[in-house]
Amino acid sequence: MVKLTVLYDNTALTPSLLASHGFSCLVEGEENILFDTGESGPLLFKNMELLGIDPGTISSVVISHEHYDHIGGLWHFLCSYPWVTVYILPSFSEATRARIRESGAKCIEVQAPRRLTSSVVTTGEVEGSVREQGLLIEGEEGVLLLCGCCHPGVDAFLERARSWGKRISGFLGGLHLAFAQEEDIDKTLEAMKAEGVGKVAPAHCTGFFATERIRSLWAEGYVPCGVGMTLLWGEEGKGRINR
Ligand SMILES: [Fe+2]
Ligand SMILES: [Fe+2]
Repeated sequence: MVKLTVLYDNTALTPSLLASHGFSCLVEGEENILFDTGESGPLLFKNMELLGIDPGTISSVVISHEHYDHIGGLWHFLCSYPWVTVYILPSFSEATRARIRESGAKCIEVQAPRRLTSSVVTTGEVEGSVREQGLLIEGEEGVLLLCGCCHPGVDAFLERARSWGKRISGFLGGLHLAFAQEEDIDKTLEAMKAEGVGKVAPAHCTGFFATERIRSLWAEGYVPCGVGMTLLWGEEGKGRINR
């Protein structure tokens, strides 16, 4: 079973947790993987402390794309925990690559899908206006797609998963629809429905309008997201939400 905990998001589920523009999610399983780091390292660490999470248990960091609100917290994190492996994309800047290596961390570029644990796979670099990677979390209830912003469009991620023989049944993360036209929002959500995505936890840059549309279209399958939300995926988890 994999446990996903949102550590950094534009909204928080309780007033005691800190909300800020950006995204980060902890993926706990046979290895603990930090997916994105938000913009501010101190804020990320504060939310971890409030949620009782020890950052020292994290062995890998996956950065979805190089935007400040996803990679900004990495530098603070690497100051204290430089023994991790950081998974980036070939499209990242040389400056970022050098800075990760200077910290002492191992830096691995992923182009094609790559397995990180027995139930977690990175999609590799998905092409789009901004190239991006997401994580595929495998469980008996299907595959959950964890994304930062979905800049290439969620359909490009669905296509990448399909080319790897996987269909997506759950989604957690940003859909980059905050400034999208209504017809583009509908097209995106229709593609997710057609794929058979039964559970959607929209976060970060999804936007209030698209989130409301997801809530009404998915009903029971809509998962309110924010800092502090945990989702269990696989084995006994069955996509259960803990709050
Ligand atoms: Fe973002
Ligand atoms: Fe972004």
